[in-house]
Amino acid sequence: MAGRGTAHLRPEGEAMLRVEHLVVEFPVGRTGLKVNAVSDLSLDILEGETVALVGESGCGKSTTGRAIIQLPPPTSGSVKLDGTELTKLHGEALRRTRPRMQMIFQDPISSLNPRRKIRDIVAEGLEIWEIGDDESRAKKVQEVLETVGIDPVGGDRRPHEFSGGQCQRISIARALVTEPKLIICDEPVSALDVSVQAQIINLLADMKERYGLALVFIAHDLAVVKNVSDRVLVMYLGKFCELGAPDEMYAAPAHPYTAALLAAIPEPDPEIRPDPDKILGGELPSPMNPPSGCRFRTRCPKAQDICTEQEPEVREFRPGQFVACHFPVEPGEELEFARVPHH
Ligand SMILES: Nc1ncnc2c1ncn2[C@@H]1O[C@H](COP(=O)(O)OP(=O)(O)OP(=O)(O)O)[C@@H](O)[C@H]1O
Ligand code: SF4
Ligand SMILES: [Mg+2]
Repeated sequence: MAGRGTAHLRPEGEAMLRVEHLVVEFPVGRTGLKVNAVSDLSLDILEGETVALVGESGCGKSTTGRAIIQLPPPTSGSVKLDGTELTKLHGEALRRTRPRMQMIFQDPISSLNPRRKIRDIVAEGLEIWEIGDDESRAKKVQEVLETVGIDPVGGDRRPHEFSGGQCQRISIARALVTEPKLIICDEPVSALDVSVQAQIINLLADMKERYGLALVFIAHDLAVVKNVSDRVLVMYLGKFCELGAPDEMYAAPAHPYTAALLAAIPEPDPEIRPDPDKILGGELPSPMNPPSGCRFRTRCPKAQDICTEQEPEVREFRPGQFVACHFPVEPGEELEFARVPHH
């Protein structure tokens, strides 16, 4: 059994990124209250691995992604990249780690400067971090544009001349140009037409293969990440719920919340965003005043008294499948979400 919040899956692999007991809190004005955006989250990511972060809006996915790259640094906890403790770095030392960790955002058009030529947008990272000379930069920009499927001949054009999908390709090129080890993809396809989503997901998968990248893939729902993720981490209200390989997790979810997310995936058309609220009933509690014990207990059909009193520890429930729940779901067990009481 793993200790509390220390689910380091795959002990045979050397972690490239090790996140331990990550906490991110946002103070609310001068009220003395705080938003518990991420609470005691631990996770290892291996070189070349894709780990998806999944959960409802507000569960802390983006905050986790940003805390990993120290934008901003977490309230507490540890983030190690190849053994270097990032939370203790400041100024120039922290700046030097930036090219190794890039981020891609949801809205490709607004994340690209509309006044700049795409060639310059893509070259930005090379200039900021003073990588290479003019000639090698131009060559590199051409190479990454070609790799993402954008004709470098159009490098003088500006973002508005491209479609949303093409802009996301340009964002990917901009991220790739500094040869990062890790890219945090924050809902990279949510703003795109359904017809383009698969192309961008496939492109990210290709880039991962080609460059040996590790990806953190943030998404609302489990359907989007299934085929691209080595492992999936489900979060609820800033907490670790379940982590495992998608095939096993989707076939036999151990956490009741994972089961609810899976039940919310519409069968005939997996492209439609599921609505866990319809399945779960009850309201999402405030992250300023989360429930005691297990944060999911107010919406969980399996909740017992102990779930109010004691926070469940993360443990390896089945080989490679980690769960934070006192009463994990057994294979074949039917959960009756509709009868969840409204506390
Ligand atoms: N800068 C901030 N100041 C105050 N609260 C914040 C800030 N950023 C995020 N939060 C809060 O922290 C919690 C987690 O937010 P986060 O954006 O990480 O969620 P998310 O899972 O990415 O949601 P979404 O799916 O909507 O993008 C939310 O309650 C959010 O309102
Ligand atoms: S710990 Fe209890 S309330 Fe939380 S998910 Fe498990 S059964 Fe439900
Ligand atoms: Mg987000």
